[in-house]
Amino acid sequence: MRKDLGSIPAIFPMPVLMVGTYNEDGTVNVMNAAWGMMADMKNIILNLSSIRKTLENIKRTGSFTVSIATENTVSESDYFGLVSGNNVKGKFEKTGFHAVKSNFVNAPVIVEYPLTIECEFVEEKEIVQGRNGVIGKIINVSCDENVLDDTGKIDIKKLNAIMYDTINHGYYGVGEKVGQAFSDGNKLK
Ligand SMILES: Cc1cc2nc3c(=O)[nH]c(=O)nc-3n(C[C@H](O)[C@H](O)[C@H](O)COP(=O)(O)O)c2cc1C
Repeated sequence: MRKDLGSIPAIFPMPVLMVGTYNEDGTVNVMNAAWGMMADMKNIILNLSSIRKTLENIKRTGSFTVSIATENTVSESDYFGLVSGNNVKGKFEKTGFHAVKSNFVNAPVIVEYPLTIECEFVEEKEIVQGRNGVIGKIINVSCDENVLDDTGKIDIKKLNAIMYDTINHGYYGVGEKVGQAFSDGNKLK
């Protein structure tokens, strides 16, 4: 028997995105954002609360990076979602993580995350009260060569990305590949 669960945020999986920005003094800030995705093939959209230090930094610097959280960075990635740069000085430094400046935008690339999308801020639009859609144009994607396959493409298995469940707040690893998009359905045509 089916049960009605009401209006709950039931889409799974959500990504675990690490948004990197520079504070006004040049130090690094990173926040955890599960409410984000590709807006189209060239742009990312994040859903940020208007009080986030990250949003202030994005608007001031015109840039941000988005890295994919991984199985071996779960604690640090969660910490980036528990603590705000508004309240804690040295938020990033507490993790012991390292950052270098992007070659393309005015935002940090966090060394410990193997895949980073480097974005130029395009625009911000209020979606609902206090929640802002923040669009970033992808200028470059950089990644650690050990997550690439023999042909130079990103190998999802090597990335060890994690995903987020909004219902029970779990982080999950990515399981086995179970199909091929734009292909498996062909047998039903
Ligand atoms: C799993 C997880 C996902 C989150 N996703 C978002 C999100 O998509 N948007 C948002 O505004 N806050 C989100 N947060 C909360 C922010 O990461 C948190 O408020 C953080 O302290 C903000 O940091 P900042 O103020 O230094 O930018 C999330 C937190 C966690 C733990």
